Amino acid sequence: MTRAFRIAPSILSADFARLGEEVRAVEAAGADMIHFDVMDNHYVPNLTIGPLVCEALRPHLQIPIDVHLMLSPVDRIVGDFAKAGANLITFHPEASDHIDRTLQLIRDCGCRAGLVFNPATPLFYLDHVMDKLDMVLLMSVNPGYGGQKFIPATLPKIRAVRSRIDAHVAAGGQPIWLEVDGGVKVDNIAEVARAGADTFVAGSAVFSAADPDGGYRGVFEKLRGALAASGV
Ligand code: DX5
Ligand code: ZN
Repeated sequence: MTRAFRIAPSILSADFARLGEEVRAVEAAGADMIHFDVMDNHYVPNLTIGPLVCEALRPHLQIPIDVHLMLSPVDRIVGDFAKAGANLITFHPEASDHIDRTLQLIRDCGCRAGLVFNPATPLFYLDHVMDKLDMVLLMSVNPGYGGQKFIPATLPKIRAVRSRIDAHVAAGGQPIWLEVDGGVKVDNIAEVARAGADTFVAGSAVFSAADPDGGYRGVFEKLRGALAASGV
């Protein structure tokens, strides 16, 4: 069976002075959702964008906004992102005091919920919450910056999560997307897909590859071509 693939450009690498145009351009080029990286200069050593920017971008987009919270505490900002038009909200389990509660809070706000794992964060956080997850996000770089190099040790971890999700679904559980974030490019996206990912964040790979007309169709064709040739 062919797996459905989704590509989510991270606006961390977009031109922040033209963010509305940038998200419209990647949607027109075939983005499946917008990956929205939220950093707080506390959980991660960088500071980016919050609910106000999410709300400002929402009218520019038809596709879902995939909010990746790299911040602590988590719970008090969830409602603000839901009101700002977020569709998925993911957080790092070690940044929340009550993981089950935070997942439920996200779903109660009408969003899809997910957990994010840094390259060295153990997967045991999945143990008791599989039924509350819509997505697992595996970081393939350490969080904080765009444009870093993919960490190959993440590949076995992707395979491990793919096995857990497949077993969960085979046992009658709900579908769970498996997203990979960090250093995903045209030349490694097929390998990431073969390891088990179905959803791919691509920041610098997309936004550093504008077409002469300012669009992004060329890089989406290359990413989709590599996925189509992956054999998955
Ligand atoms: C890193 C962010 C990523 C990052 C991806 O902390 O979560 O989403 O922007 O950017 P690239 O694709 O350039 O590694
Ligand atoms: Zn991210």
